[in-house]
Parts: sequence; C-alpha cells; structure tokens
Amino acid sequence: MSIGYLQRKAAWEILLKVSAGDFSDHALEKVLRNYQFNPLDIAFITELSFGCIRYRKFLDLWTDHTSKITHKKQPPKLRWLLHIGLYQLLKMDKIPFPAAISSTVEVAKKTDLNGLAGTVNAILRNASRKLKQESLPELSSDRKERISYLESFPLWLVNDIYKWVGTNDAENIVKAFNKKPSIDLRINKLKTDLDQFLKLLYENKINAEPIKELNNGITLKSNPRSIKNLPGYSDGLWTIQDRSSQWVAPLLNPKEGEKILDACAAPGSKSTHLAELTNDSAEILAVDRSQRRLKILQSNLDRLSLKSVTIMKADATSLSELNPKFISYFDKILIDAPCSGIGTLSRNPDSRWSLSKEKIKCLTLLQEKLLDNIFPLLKKNGTLVYSTCTICPDENNLLIERFIKKNKVLKLDSQRQILPSLDFPGDGFYAAIISYKS
Ligand SMILES: C[S@@+](CC[C@H](N)C(=O)[O-])C[C@H]1O[C@@H](n2cnc3c(N)ncnc32)[C@H](O)[C@@H]1O
Repeated sequence: MSIGYLQRKAAWEILLKVSAGDFSDHALEKVLRNYQFNPLDIAFITELSFGCIRYRKFLDLWTDHTSKITHKKQPPKLRWLLHIGLYQLLKMDKIPFPAAISSTVEVAKKTDLNGLAGTVNAILRNASRKLKQESLPELSSDRKERISYLESFPLWLVNDIYKWVGTNDAENIVKAFNKKPSIDLRINKLKTDLDQFLKLLYENKINAEPIKELNNGITLKSNPRSIKNLPGYSDGLWTIQDRSSQWVAPLLNPKEGEKILDACAAPGSKSTHLAELTNDSAEILAVDRSQRRLKILQSNLDRLSLKSVTIMKADATSLSELNPKFISYFDKILIDAPCSGIGTLSRNPDSRWSLSKEKIKCLTLLQEKLLDNIFPLLKKNGTLVYSTCTICPDENNLLIERFIKKNKVLKLDSQRQILPSLDFPGDGFYAAIISYKS
C-alpha cells in the first residue's frame, strides 16, 4: 500500500458527501469518525478535500484538458477522484507527482472504481506531463471569465462581485475567498483578560496574538488540533468568532440594565458578546426560529456562565403579534439577518456552488420583512443595528437606504461595509446603525 492512500480515500469520501448535499464541515466530521487519523493527516485531508471543493471549476477545466471524456460525461465518483489527484498535482507543491498519482490510483483500485483505475492513472499522468511541458488549458480572453475558471467561481458571482466593488477590489476579494481563513477568538472578559489568556495559550505552546482593532479579540498563529481542545473552552474563557463579526455587538453601545433584542440570535456569538459587554446585567432576549441552533446557543450560555440572556423560539417577523408588550419596548435591537453569507466564502468551501441569484432575491425579501416588522419594537430613543456577513449591496446598503426612505421617522446614523481582501484576514461584513429622528 502506498503511503497516504487512506488519507486520499477519506478526502474523496468527503467530496462524495458534499456532492450529495452535505456541508463541507459536516462531511469532514462524519468521514473522520470512521478513521483513526493523527492531526497531521487531518490537516492534509482538510486541505485536500476543501481545496477540491473550492477549486471544482478549475479542476473540471483540467479534467477536460487531460481526459478524452469531458467532466460532464464522467460518472461523478470518477470526476471527484480525478479532482483529488489533480488538486495534488496543481495546488499542493510539496507532494511529489508519483506519490500523488499512485495513492490516488490506489483509491480507485480498492473501491468500486476498480475498473477505472487505468483511466485514473492515464489522466493523472497526462496532467503531470502537460504541467511539466507548461501546456495549460486554453482560456477566454475575457478577464472575468478567466478569473471564474482560475479562481473557481460561478461566472454570475464573479460578474456580480465586479459590479458591486469595481475591478481592483473584485480580483482581490475573489482571491481572498480561496485563502485559508483566520481563526479568531473573543475572550470572555467576565472570566479572564487578554494577557492572562495569552499566557495560558503560551504555556500550552499555542501561538496567538491580539487583534489590534478589537478589545477582546485574539487570532491564532498556529493551527490547533481541534479548536474545542484549546485551553479554557469548557471553562467558558472564550468564544470562536471572526474579527469582523466581533465588530458588530459593540455598535449597539449596549449598557447594563438595558432591554436588548437579538432578533436572529442563534448560535449566539453576538448574544453572548452583548451579555459580556453588559457585565451580564442587561435584559437580553435572544430570538431565533431554529430549535436546533437555539440548543447550541443555550449550551454556549451555559459554557460561558451567562445568565442575562433569555431564549425564545419564534419567527421574529411576528414578535409584536406574539407579544404586543414588545412594541416600543427595547432600548437596543440587533437584526443579524439571515443572508447569502458571501463575506464568509473562505470558511464555507461549498457555498459558492449552492448560491444563486434567486436565493439572494428570496433572502432580501425576508430581510426586508424582518426590518419592517421588528423596528416598531424599538423605543423612540433606541438604536437598531442591522448586520449581515455578505458583500451584496441588495442585502446591505441598498436594502437599508430603501428602508430608511420608506420610514420617514427613522434615520441612518452610519453604515460600513467590510470587504475581505488578501491583506485583511477577516470575513466580509456589513452593519448599519439606525435610530428615530429626534
Ligand atoms: C446570520 S444567522 C445569526 C447568527 C447569530 N446572530 C450569531 O452571531 O451567532 C441568522 C439566523 O437567523 C435565523 N432566522 C432566519 N429567519 C428567521 C426568522 N424569521 N425569525 C427568527 N430567526 C430567523 C436563522 O435560524 C439563523 O440562526
């Protein structure tokens, strides 16, 4: 058996699960349960499988360049196994070509692709020859189309990103979506502080540093075996939360004693942040319509020992009907809206393939309904923050500007779009601060 056959097989199984509709991280978790891999193996499998998922379009291009049968006509199991082989040849420069090819062919031999092992071998050898000869696939001269192949995104999404942010930023953003995302933590200031926690990490040989623009944020410099095994997790010393997401809760300027609604709250990164910022002494109502996600929120509250958050399972668009007392009740409201998540594409390798313009349209309708139905719950001198983790203007500034225009009693105090980029390791996020005109 050649070294690494099992790791390639596991990565291939992850691709099979994702193509059947699983999210990448769930698929990874499920597959790993069937094996006994060490942390290095897991890092390799994650890089290989997530890379193949991200670069699907690029790998299909190479399949068509090296195989007599185009990717569209290949049985899916073969297509995904070719991706496993091609990704190693094209994107993992530390793996010698013979090792990449033989271990991938071995997966075919030992599974129901046995009859196609020769085909896998021939295509991968052809690919390695073409790479050495620098014989690359032909691409259109249109820049956006080229990018859509080379960076591996649906063309509609590349076109839209160019339209939203302009040529210079678009290319940078698309490349940033293919980078490994940062791992950022938010320190629970009710239990520890930055210096103490960094010392604890240092003692456990984990490299980390504070995030400059945040009060309680740190970023990991070394890759942990498993995030939840980092010191202090079960003691509630920290929450995993991207730096851009950590920027949102403070925008409400939450204070002890205030009544705060977190209308789309689960799994609770921002509800728990609000509780920490208010010394666990505000009255926070965390609403979400997903029972499954609320369960995670509850376990986060328990782990962080936070008592000031009450959970409610409800459709946030009908809160005033469910409880008329809520009208003009809240000092602060956060609508962290369900969105296309385009700002977080680097964390979710599969989502670029499941997004569509139609889905975004449906989301904007829901976002508008949430705003329309929730803003009457705000006190006249209160503050509402609307946030998303997308960079799509229809879900962000265009929606908010229309909402403000429609509701003459309201004003937009400020808004900001954070764009992902190669120089900024955080997610893309948007937030608007809204209040009543005085
Ligand atoms: C962006 S996520 C929220 C993330 C959360 N604020 C955090 O920081 O952990 C959006 C949430 O909105 C919830 N949601 C979607 N439609 C809703 C509705 N009509 N009422 C309440 N919650 C809703 C989803 O279940 C999802 O948990």
